[in-house]
Amino acid sequence: MSVYRITLGTPEELVPTKFSPKSKIEVTPLSIEHAKELHFKQTARGLLVEFPLNPGNEVYGFGLQLKGFRQTNRKKTIRPNADPISNTGDSHAPVPFFVTTEGWGIFVDSARYVEFNCGYTKVSTASTAAHSELKSEFSEIYAKREASYPTVFTIDVPHVKGVDLYIFKGENMLDCICQYNLFSGGGCDVSLWGLGNLYRCHLEFNEKQVLEMAEKFRKMEIPCDILGLEPGWQSCSYSSSFVWDSERFPHYKETFEKLKNMGFKVNLWEQGFVHPSSPLYEKLLPYSGDYKVWDGLVPDFSTDGARELFVKHHEELQSLGVKGYKLDECDGSDYTGHWTFPLCSEFPSGMDGEQYHSLFGTLFLQTMMQVHGREKTLAEVRNLGALASSYPFVLYSDLYNHKDFIRGVSNAGFSGLLWSPEVRHAESKEDLVRRVQTVVFSVQSLINAFYLDDMPWIDKDCTEEIKALLELRMALVPYLYTAFYEYKTAGKPPVRALVCEHPEDKNTHELWDEYYFGDSIIVAPMTAKEESRKVYLPEGQWYGFFDGKKYEGGAAFEVTTADIPVFVKSGTVLPLATPVQYIEKDTQFEITLYCYGNTEGAVAKLIEDNGFEYAEDARVLRVNDHTLTVESYRYGIKEIKRIP
Ligand code: GAL
Repeated sequence: MSVYRITLGTPEELVPTKFSPKSKIEVTPLSIEHAKELHFKQTARGLLVEFPLNPGNEVYGFGLQLKGFRQTNRKKTIRPNADPISNTGDSHAPVPFFVTTEGWGIFVDSARYVEFNCGYTKVSTASTAAHSELKSEFSEIYAKREASYPTVFTIDVPHVKGVDLYIFKGENMLDCICQYNLFSGGGCDVSLWGLGNLYRCHLEFNEKQVLEMAEKFRKMEIPCDILGLEPGWQSCSYSSSFVWDSERFPHYKETFEKLKNMGFKVNLWEQGFVHPSSPLYEKLLPYSGDYKVWDGLVPDFSTDGARELFVKHHEELQSLGVKGYKLDECDGSDYTGHWTFPLCSEFPSGMDGEQYHSLFGTLFLQTMMQVHGREKTLAEVRNLGALASSYPFVLYSDLYNHKDFIRGVSNAGFSGLLWSPEVRHAESKEDLVRRVQTVVFSVQSLINAFYLDDMPWIDKDCTEEIKALLELRMALVPYLYTAFYEYKTAGKPPVRALVCEHPEDKNTHELWDEYYFGDSIIVAPMTAKEESRKVYLPEGQWYGFFDGKKYEGGAAFEVTTADIPVFVKSGTVLPLATPVQYIEKDTQFEITLYCYGNTEGAVAKLIEDNGFEYAEDARVLRVNDHTLTVESYRYGIKEIKRIP
């Protein structure tokens, strides 16, 4: 396994690899003479790279793309933005990396708004286009025309005199993605409790209301591990003071104790913009950019000065037992609100506004990882970019189209990102249930009730359905923890689009609304008002997760169900836990092994480790369809069930 670096011209100094963790795979320098198909030149715009793209070779990636999936023949501009309106490349987390069905991919080491044109036709291209007929319908006129000849792929890096390209050549598409993640420092090491359910309270809640909500969860026996406090915990939040609001939280220490005693881990909302009333403000002035956002400083988190001040300031919060932070609004908005810093901003590190915009979320997050020290977390951030797979932070959005959220789930895995299709309000009971179905089958089960007075299921009269789904999430925790272990050690994304596994199967090329959840499960979420949906299952035999119905893959099926369509691969030993309300250091999961079809020789892995702090103590336990006892403090086998 090796990644190749080609240096073109003289690259800039402040680029993503300067700030990223150490690669876990070897990097081999390659001279341009060995990449005969690749051409580059300096233009008035910056540096232009061109190479051919074979017909039929499909392109995916570019980060968290909510509006598009297969990117072949598309133009993508890598620009962070909170409100993408179409498939342009704008995103909370755009990434200058793409992967192809031929099993190779390229990462462009730049913090510029790089433009990728994924297969265009040049005048010099030997086109074989036949005479095209006159079209009258708009949909026909503007329909995508597939090229049957090699097109030209261009990478246009503005303002620079050179760039490093990293070329990943995998055995297949998934291998290529794994290589990119290993190059990024490997997949993240998440806390065990982070895979439980997270509920964020109304932003105006005071300590009494927060405690009431916590007690309500425990009384109703709805599993919840993490309670999130939104902006209202601070005396000032837009921009942030990072200081407790004395009216809403006069007894925050006692509140923390009570929450801890009920088994909750607390996550605090924060922003990277520092309000004049904050004790950090004056000290941060020399380490901040020259423009403000919401009257707040924008700290340059690439400087030691800004990092040290932040880490020091958070010591008290850490001593209270804060387990995670939600790092909001580091993406910036250009289409709505217009709050961000200008591209001409100057930062003490020497970055301009464009570079810092691409790196802001990542650098802020790195600072907060320092705050956490040895404690593991799974927290939230609203902007990320290149080389981010090693950070235990999940992306989220204020947008709310359910289908776009599902597209985010399958897209994030192409570029080393995690995404939660969070649930907030719902139009109807059905809408709520469908959304919660999707979120429990994602990397983070997040109910973000930041503008709701109560749990969103109460007035929709579906508490029992939602409780069952949140319990199902708890049943899936050990299985998902194993998937995260594969992410950490092998770079394999825990959730990924079907095309990653089956690039040779053309049926998967446009399939954004189905995804692998771990190695053995395919999820095909449904949205409200859908009575049924088409599900494609790859070659092989599959079983319905809820009804045990058998399917012969390599075909599409019409599925009608009130449950979420979920399928388990034949030959799987699936470990499901008896749901617990929340996870503690000494939680032992009671496991039932569900054996689907012929499981002779099949094993399921269970990861036994500390789960709360970073430690090199992981034991990989292997269980099979006959395992009745396992020596482990984390797992015990309750029973074995066979699904014939
Ligand atoms: C938004 C964020 C929401 C919520 C809100 C509170 O920017 O995306 O999830 O935290 O701020 O003001």
